[in-house]
Amino acid sequence: MANMQGFGMMIDKLKKNPKTIVFTEGTDARIQEAASRLLASYFLTPILVGKESEIYEAAEENGYNIRGAKILDPAKYENMEEMVAKLCELRKSKNMQPEEARKLLLQGNYFGTMLVKMGVADALLGGATYSTADTVRPALQIIKTKPGHSVVSSCFIMVRPSATGENEVLAMGDCAINIHPNEDELAEIAICAADCGKIFGVDPKVAFLSYSTFGSGAGEDVEKMRNAAAKAKAMRPDLAIEGEMQFDAAVSPRVARTKCPDSEVAGHANTFVFPDINAGNIGYKIAQRLGNFDAYGPILLGMNAPINDLSRGCNAEEVYSMAIITAALVDE
Ligand SMILES: CC(C)(COP(=O)(O)OP(=O)(O)OC[C@H]1O[C@@H](n2cnc3c(N)ncnc32)[C@H](O)[C@@H]1OP(=O)(O)O)[C@@H](O)C(=O)NCCC(=O)NCCS
Repeated sequence: MANMQGFGMMIDKLKKNPKTIVFTEGTDARIQEAASRLLASYFLTPILVGKESEIYEAAEENGYNIRGAKILDPAKYENMEEMVAKLCELRKSKNMQPEEARKLLLQGNYFGTMLVKMGVADALLGGATYSTADTVRPALQIIKTKPGHSVVSSCFIMVRPSATGENEVLAMGDCAINIHPNEDELAEIAICAADCGKIFGVDPKVAFLSYSTFGSGAGEDVEKMRNAAAKAKAMRPDLAIEGEMQFDAAVSPRVARTKCPDSEVAGHANTFVFPDINAGNIGYKIAQRLGNFDAYGPILLGMNAPINDLSRGCNAEEVYSMAIITAALVDE
């Protein structure tokens, strides 16, 4: 990741304007290793959530120097009453009462999300031990969708080093959040994934994937992808967006020449929109496990502040990279 186009620019951006990131699982060894690296580099200040004594004990046991990290324990947080009142206000449509809010805020995921909401931190990275749903749900409820977006979605940035030193970089969405996106949501997912890919140096060529290439197959699912591609193109005529198309037509110039010779995207697609989370989640993992791509994400898109989710199988290097990616997505 360190050589990837875009990553160095993210670090430069943070060096000019350092940020604060909250880690909801402060005792986790992988989080502590990443936090110790960040503390040594001064462009991203970690806040570790958890009991101070447990965090320091774990750090000593694991041999990480986390001196200088801000540690916030929800059970001892001095502004807890203000946070409880704020959460009740934000969730008043759900009739949230202080007792329920207080209970939720003892959990690192809700507490950390409120730290971002209240401006104590700029961004959040969680999910080393929480499931995706448990990391993302508080963010959806509290941070909410950005104006102009109807859903929060996600994409994976897939990176494969090459012998020439030039990495192959792809964007894939939505492999992690929206289970059955409709046409409008798919159009939004495509645009968000294309814009996210640009940050990583991708010049987006967006393919809406299907089992059919420009009408070779028929059915509701084919029409959905075709219509979604048309909607995305109408929303962003500046982007190269086409579909529906099969994956082989999307990536193989030879297949594209046979199946759809007039397409400007087919054969060269680098941004993929999957019809649903089943296809997307399976698809990115095939690229990762059989295609030797490193997977960065899911990067959540369309939310009011950057909150990202780690895979529970992540390592410290991935935590470090995702922390930088997450903080670099803070709107200036
Ligand atoms: C993301 C996810 C957790 C949300 O589902 P949920 O917890 O059942 O959420 P709910 O439907 O109860 O909605 C909770 C809130 O989030 C909002 N929300 C849900 N999905 C949203 C989306 N995609 N964009 C914006 N807001 C969303 C709801 O409107 C609701 O807001 P409200 O409480 O203010 O009314 C769910 O879609 C999910 O499990 N996705 C798959 C996650 C996963 O397992 N991924 C695979 C591993 S990477």
